[in-house]
Amino acid sequence: MSRNKALTIDHLLAMKRDGEKIAMLTCYDATFASAMDRAGVDIILVGDSLGMVVQGESSTVGVQVDDIAYHTECVAQGLERTFLLADMPFGSFHSESVAMENAVELLSAGGAMVKLEGAGPMIDIVHYLTSRGVPVCAHLGLTPQSVNQLGGFKVQARDETGAKQLIADAQAMQQAGAQMLVVECIPATLGREVSETVDIPVIGIGAGVDCDGQVLVMHDMLGLGSWAPKFVKDFMQGSGSIQGAFEAYVLAVRDRQFPTREHEY
Ligand code: KIV
Repeated sequence: MSRNKALTIDHLLAMKRDGEKIAMLTCYDATFASAMDRAGVDIILVGDSLGMVVQGESSTVGVQVDDIAYHTECVAQGLERTFLLADMPFGSFHSESVAMENAVELLSAGGAMVKLEGAGPMIDIVHYLTSRGVPVCAHLGLTPQSVNQLGGFKVQARDETGAKQLIADAQAMQQAGAQMLVVECIPATLGREVSETVDIPVIGIGAGVDCDGQVLVMHDMLGLGSWAPKFVKDFMQGSGSIQGAFEAYVLAVRDRQFPTREHEY
């Protein structure tokens, strides 16, 4: 499929500047990718959530770079317009040379940008990658790859110290060259503050309506998830079809109808 019409990071930056909300979903194959593309989804993430929703594991920790590369290639086959983001799995970016090698594999598979979790030492890794031409999205807040360290899937940065640290990390990531942020499971007020603080698009999941965009795991928003965290809405209800659910999601994000207070922390 031709990607001449594909969205670029410049389009996404312009959407942020113009206050147009960005709709992102995870996806793992060509058929769903094509349906999302037709529905107007702006960004598809080939997330390491595939460890849970595709491979049936209880966490994302065992996902391999080759798994993400394979599903990125599959998704790319279904896309004309949607921007394609590929996740770097646990253990694939913890030194500069390893991160570079793995990022190149994911970009070669069709990703337009790679995403990696964490701050601290990851800020230098992001700088290393971006200064060598790799487009990077940084993932802050709840970082599921650290679930065993965090003691579970918990809301992050609830107190003032945590909130200040997250803002500082977001600024440091932008400074290091990151061109997008994902913020997961943080208070809605902090989601707004981060989005107002940095110039790059901030995509929230469980981070309130005032982020520049929203992301959900596809299986969750189709009502297929085996768990239902507070931030998930089942878009199959009232939509009648999977295509309709994707369209309803895009519309709800664009019109600030999702998330609502009931989905916030
Ligand atoms: O892997 C994934 O699906 C993610 C989203 C939850 C943002 O990182």
